[in-house]
Amino acid sequence: MKQERILVTGGTGYIGSHTVVELQQAGYPVTIIDNLSNSNADVIDGIERITGIRPDFVEGDCTDIDTLRRLFETYPDIKGIINFAASKAVGESMHKPILYYRNNLNTLLNLLDLMGPAGVKGIVFSSSCTVYGEPDENPVTENAPIKKATSPYGNTKQISEEIITDVINAGAPFKSVILRYFNPVGAHSSAEIGELPNGVPQNLIPYLTQTAIGIRKELSVFGNDYNTPDGSCIRDYINVVDLAKAHVIAVERMLEDRSDAKIEIFNLGTGNGVSVLELIHTFEEATGVKVPHKIVGRRAGDIEKVWADPAYANEVLGWKAETPLADTMRSAWAWQCRLRERGIM
Ligand code: WQD
Repeated sequence: MKQERILVTGGTGYIGSHTVVELQQAGYPVTIIDNLSNSNADVIDGIERITGIRPDFVEGDCTDIDTLRRLFETYPDIKGIINFAASKAVGESMHKPILYYRNNLNTLLNLLDLMGPAGVKGIVFSSSCTVYGEPDENPVTENAPIKKATSPYGNTKQISEEIITDVINAGAPFKSVILRYFNPVGAHSSAEIGELPNGVPQNLIPYLTQTAIGIRKELSVFGNDYNTPDGSCIRDYINVVDLAKAHVIAVERMLEDRSDAKIEIFNLGTGNGVSVLELIHTFEEATGVKVPHKIVGRRAGDIEKVWADPAYANEVLGWKAETPLADTMRSAWAWQCRLRERGIM
């Protein structure tokens, strides 16, 4: 077991829980703080079933600075933070901007405020490819221009990146690695943890798997008249476990002072652009299960095509997304089937 404890905020959520598994398997003691606003404490059991280790869990809200203060007092061995605690639904953020700015920004400000005095060496921040908007060219490198955010959610990611930069440039005694995720999909290969959206899913894969299992009648494909080979939108779908592994490398990089830079930014994607129709086809081929679907009109605000140039992360972090998309689709399906077995969905 390593000495340095990692605080994972939002650690019972989708990407957070997969990251806790990878951290524990790499030997790190982990404390999770989560307010369970969009997740469930049962996730801790799933993490324990996979790793044999139960992470410490604090139910609490990171927007409350006193809660965080107490947490740092309880765990003086925290040396790294991975911050997943945030609201993440693009559509909801249009209706509830204050909630999004409050949750996402106050959480970050509180962590940045307390981590220096608490002796924490670095913070990994979950950012998003939404910062690139509709990119001028694909694949997108980290140097591509940041486009004006089209939602309060996206804006919180841009502002958060700026806050981290300002705080570190002002001489804060810690480092940061900002990770810009493309589209995380799939579940742990054990099917013990996965994505568990509340209500009707807004994202493609949970809607697709819920359609495949019969919870939804058919999947709507939002548009087939885009300027892409088959007319549907293109994204870079990255396996969530591959994504989680990058966080372990990022946090280690800060703890071990492997870089002179105090802030680093990496794209986390596969480098492959896949259309909605191709993805449905890959799922059907991989699982043998048909997905009833129909073409409908475009969804407002959708980007036509975006995929990552992950070369910088590949080279500097020595990390690569390696899970084939078909395996990722099978993992998403196995997770959906497990939810059914457990009577959850
Ligand atoms: C993917 C593709 C849709 C649902 C958003 C955020 C991003 C990140 C992930 C993180 C698009 C199409 C979808 C459906 C469809 N957020 N689609 N039918 O929009 O790329 O990214 O979520 O927390 O920051 O912007 O992801 O999964 O919603 O859509 O045809 O029922 O699937 O049009 O082309 P998106 P998505």
